[in-house]
Amino acid sequence: MLNNRVNIQNLSLSYKDKKILDNLNLQVKEKEIIGIQGISGCGKSSLIHCICKIIPTLINGNITGDIYIDDENMDDISIEQIPKKIGVVMQNPVTQLFFSTLEDEIAFTMENLCFEKSEILKRIDESLELIDMVEYRNCDPQKLSGGQQQLLVLACVLATRPQILLLDEAFSQIDQGHKNKIIPIIKDYAQKGNTVIMIDHQRENLNICTRILTLEKGNFIGNNL
Ligand SMILES: Nc1ncnc2c1ncn2[C@@H]1O[C@H](COP(=O)(O)OP(=O)(O)OP(=O)(O)O)[C@@H](O)[C@H]1O
Ligand SMILES: [Mg+2]
Repeated sequence: MLNNRVNIQNLSLSYKDKKILDNLNLQVKEKEIIGIQGISGCGKSSLIHCICKIIPTLINGNITGDIYIDDENMDDISIEQIPKKIGVVMQNPVTQLFFSTLEDEIAFTMENLCFEKSEILKRIDESLELIDMVEYRNCDPQKLSGGQQQLLVLACVLATRPQILLLDEAFSQIDQGHKNKIIPIIKDYAQKGNTVIMIDHQRENLNICTRILTLEKGNFIGNNL
């Protein structure tokens, strides 16, 4: 039997007095693509932030319960180790762009993870081709459109090949042509043995999911597939 890649046990989260997640459980194995839907404000992004340790490291929140990544308790995984295992595309891509060129942006996490220079250069080329932005290599990410910024963040994250991919409305501003190209790549990525958890308001983007869960009042209300 396959081990759980992500194992969430009795997770509760509140911001000050406001309860967001209430005793939530989720187990995800390799090759699964979990879709999470739910009305605005129900806590989808907050859940993603817990799974990649942004809460409580960067955003304050009171968490109880346990999250295990490959059977290792999140409490024992330092924030620096997270990008080795988990890639996250956040709802607002601008919050993930820090550098003055696309090339530097894509290289950053790979450099932090001590990839070989030649491998970094190869993956920068591949990434720019993937998102059809080869000629933007030395451009400023801040000057791109919202859709291009989302594509760039996706490319940055995929370049490091994390085993767990968290996508928070990652396609919301991407044009249909690029969605048609990238979404099958995400499906293929999972089928190769990785794990994807994606939030999306557009039901058609969730068609690649192996399970779709609806978050309501702090917990999942059902398995809709
Ligand atoms: N850092 C924070 N501090 C306090 N409250 C917060 C914080 N982040 C989110 N909230 C509140 O917690 C609730 C859940 O927010 P969250 O962003 O997780 O919802 P969501 O399901 O992702 O919504 P959307 O579909 O609009 O993206 C909302 O009421 C939001 O205002
Ligand atoms: Mg959200």
